[in-house]
Amino acid sequence: MSLTVISHPLAAHVVTHLRDKTTKPATFRTLTYELTVLLALEATRNLSTTSKDIETPLESLTGSVLARQPLVVVPILRAGLGMVQPFLDMFPDVSVGYIGLERDHETAVARSYYCKLPQLAGRHVFLVDPMLATGGSAVKALDVLKKNGATDIVLLSIVSAPEGVSAVEQAHPGVPILTAALDRELNARKYIMPGLGDFGDRLYGT
Ligand code: PRP
Ligand code: URA
Repeated sequence: MSLTVISHPLAAHVVTHLRDKTTKPATFRTLTYELTVLLALEATRNLSTTSKDIETPLESLTGSVLARQPLVVVPILRAGLGMVQPFLDMFPDVSVGYIGLERDHETAVARSYYCKLPQLAGRHVFLVDPMLATGGSAVKALDVLKKNGATDIVLLSIVSAPEGVSAVEQAHPGVPILTAALDRELNARKYIMPGLGDFGDRLYGT
């Protein structure tokens, strides 16, 4: 099983406020930022470090700092954009790629409309998309990342449906999935239940 549901009281608190239909876009963006920090901490748990000798005001110390290692964050447009800034703030050298996918309102099948990627081979790649519903978007994005040389990929989502997790596990069994909530099911319109509605609309007030 490649799924990890992050278990933290702050994550549960923030997801609950995100779900609340009275939460306005400005707060929704802040909550998205906070949850992404929690997810990114888990996703980067195994980054390499090197030792570094420093002087504290009191004595010498051999500390530990991040080794130089190329990182790439790739949001699935549009909602994934809300998860990019925490990576930029915590890992200033991170490169950013973009994959534009949009679900058809009737069929829920994702259509590709944009793709701009940096070098992916030999890099840690973090694919970010807050909603993993049918999994169609994530599977398509993972196909594209692999076709462009990525071999080390983690998928970060905020709310996932069992159907989407299964679809990713089946199509890309080696890709770990990190999520803040695993919900019950999809409804007839392929929305996650209980979910939080349309993430992109709530993020950008559309
Ligand atoms: C949403 C979401 C995911 C996708 C998930 O995007 O951000 O990308 O749906 O659904 P899936 O797992 O069934 O593919 P949407 O297509 O609504 O586009 P948007 O981000 O531009 O609003
Ligand atoms: N995309 C969303 O934004 N919400 C859902 O529930 C499913 C797909």
